[in-house]
Amino acid sequence: MKELTLKSLIKEYQLDELTAEDRHLVESAIEATNRSYAPYSKFHVGACLRLDNGVELKGCNQENAAFPSALCAERAAIFAAGTQYPNVGIQTIAIAARTPKGNLTEEPVSPCGTCRQVLIESETRAKHPIRILLHGEKCTYLIEGIKHLMPLSFTEF
Ligand code: THU
Repeated sequence: MKELTLKSLIKEYQLDELTAEDRHLVESAIEATNRSYAPYSKFHVGACLRLDNGVELKGCNQENAAFPSALCAERAAIFAAGTQYPNVGIQTIAIAARTPKGNLTEEPVSPCGTCRQVLIESETRAKHPIRILLHGEKCTYLIEGIKHLMPLSFTEF
């Protein structure tokens, strides 16, 4: 028997320690939380991604009375990018969320499993690791590649 230890690297920043570019992306993700349609969960998630060509696109969660028909903020942004710029990679994606009380989450918000799976494929398309900024009031995490959030991931066979 052999034990394998897998390592994930997460860098923790205060908002004012981020580069101006990264801070701008986080602020845009925060702004996108105000556009979210979440009348059921009242959990308002915003995402903003920057493509390799510098274009920025926002996404926010879109809920539906038929619950499984909803879409997360991350995938709303990623699929918009895939539609409008199918041949351009995603460089960085920032994510933020507001609780039902309206305040930003204390802890950095973390993407769901389905969004992680979509990010894996987005990295394959981009041909480089995607930088992920997860914002919380306490701190912002910078994760340089989806492998740090999803080890042993399923890719094409
Ligand atoms: N949600 C996101 O938009 N992104 C995530 O990564 C996690 C969850 C949304 C889905 C649903 O509209 C609400 O948050 C509560 O789960």
